[in-house]
Amino acid sequence: MSKTKAQYVCSACSSVQMKWMGKCPECSEWNTLEEVIVRAPEKNRSPMPLSASAARPIALPNIPKEGMARLPLKMAELNRVLGGGIVPGGCVLVGGDPGIGKSTLLLQMAAEIAETVGPVLYVSAEESAHQIARRAARLNIKDERLFVFSEIEVEQIIEQIENMNPMLVIVDSIQAIYHSASTSAAGTVSQVRDCAAALLRVGKQRNIPIFLVGHVTKEGTIAGPRVLEHMVDAVLQLEGERFHAYRLLRSVKNRFGSTNEVGIFEMNEGGMAEVLNPSEMFLAERLPNASGSAIAVSMEGTRPLLVEVQALSSHSAFSQPRRTGNGVDFNRLLLLTAVLSKRVGMDLSEQDIFVNIVGGMRVDEPAADLAIATAITSSFRNLPVAADLAIVGEVGLSGELRSVSQLPRRLNEAAKLGFKRALAPRSALSRNGGDALPKDIEVIGVRTLWDALDVALDKGK
Ligand code: TYD
Ligand code: MG
Repeated sequence: MSKTKAQYVCSACSSVQMKWMGKCPECSEWNTLEEVIVRAPEKNRSPMPLSASAARPIALPNIPKEGMARLPLKMAELNRVLGGGIVPGGCVLVGGDPGIGKSTLLLQMAAEIAETVGPVLYVSAEESAHQIARRAARLNIKDERLFVFSEIEVEQIIEQIENMNPMLVIVDSIQAIYHSASTSAAGTVSQVRDCAAALLRVGKQRNIPIFLVGHVTKEGTIAGPRVLEHMVDAVLQLEGERFHAYRLLRSVKNRFGSTNEVGIFEMNEGGMAEVLNPSEMFLAERLPNASGSAIAVSMEGTRPLLVEVQALSSHSAFSQPRRTGNGVDFNRLLLLTAVLSKRVGMDLSEQDIFVNIVGGMRVDEPAADLAIATAITSSFRNLPVAADLAIVGEVGLSGELRSVSQLPRRLNEAAKLGFKRALAPRSALSRNGGDALPKDIEVIGVRTLWDALDVALDKGK
C-alpha cells in the first residue's frame, strides 16, 4: 500500500492548501477548496509513461517526424481553429455553455474522421446511445466506423480504447465520468483531474487524439480545476447567444497552432454549418438609410469581421438617464457618451442611450469606438450614416482618434463587401503607409471625433 495524505485544491484558482478553509487564501473565493487524496509515488514508477522513444533523450534531428502528421478536416473552420487538423496523440478540451452545440459539432467531426480515416470511439457519459443515434439520424450520419459507447467509468473507457485502437476518441463530457480508484464524486476536482490524466496517458502512449467536452461554470471558466486546462494541449471554447444561430469557436490555448483563430458556425436543422462569409451574414438585414446604424470593422483574432452597430437615443422619462449596451463593453459605452458630451458638445444628459451589436455579436475592442460614437450621434441628431461607409478607430478621452491594429486587413474586408469609403484614424494611415492599403476603397483619414462625425453624417449622403 502506498502512503496517502489529504490536500485541498481550490476549484477556482487551483492553489493547493494543506488544510481546509472556508475561504481560499489565494483568490479569496468561498467554499472552493476540495479535498484531494494524494498517494506517495511508488518506487520505480515513472509518473507518466509516454512512448518507448520518449524514455531516453534523443538528439533533435533523430526524432521521428511521422507522429506529427495531422488528420485534416473538411470542415475548414474547425480545421483552422485546430491549427491545421487533428494532431495524433493530442488532447483537446472543448468548453461551452450547455446547449450551445458541443456534442453536435463533435459528432459531426467524429463522423467525418470515421468516413475518411478510420474507426472513431464516441464515449457518451451524459446521453444514452439512443439519444446519440437520434441526433446522428437528424444530422444524416450513418457511418459504420463510428462507435458510440455509453459509459461513465474511466477504466472501462480506457479498456475499450485499448481494444479498439480507434483513430479518434471523444469523451462527452469529462465532468460526467469517474475514476473508481478515486473516492470523491464525479465532477469534483480530483475526479476530473484523475480521469483526464488517465485518458491523456493512453492517448499519448498510443498516439490517439482525444477530445474532451467540458462544461462551463456561470463565471465562464471550464468547470472543475484550471489544472485541466494546463494538462491538455489545446482548449477550444464554443460561444454564442442562445437566441442567435451563429456560434464562434475560439482557441484559447493551442500547443499546435495559433490562439488567434476563430471559426464561425451556424446552428441549423442539419447541425453546425460553417459560415465562410460571416460579414455578409451580419449585414444581411441592414436598412441602408436608417439613423443610428454604423458599420464597424472589428477583428476576431486575425480575421476581420464587419458588424452593424445600432444605437437609439431617446428622451428619458427618468431623472437619471439609462445607458444600455448589448454586445459592447459597458464602461466603454459610458466613456464614449462622456466624450461625446464634453468634447463634441452633445447634450446627452436627458437621453436614454441603447447600443446593440446586430446578430448577438460581441465587440470588445476599442477599434469599434468610432462606429459606436457615430451610431449614437446619428440617432441623436436623426441623420443617417452614409450607407457605403465603413468605420474604424479608437476614441481617446480628448476626442482624438487613435490608431488601430491590422488596418489593411480590415479595409480589405470592407472593400470586398462593397463598401466604397472607410473612415480611419489618420495616424493609422501614416503608420501603415499607402502601399499596403487596398486601392478599391477610398480611405478618409481623420484626426478627431468631430471631424469624423462631420464626414460620417454628411446629411446622410
Ligand atoms: P448540443 O450539441 O446537444 O449542445 P451541448 O452538447 O453543447 O450541450 O446542442 C443542443 C442544441 O442544438 C439543442 O437545443 C438543439 C440544437 N440543435 C439544432 O438546432 N440542430 C441540430 O441539428 C441539432 C443536432 C441540435
Ligand atoms: Mg452535450
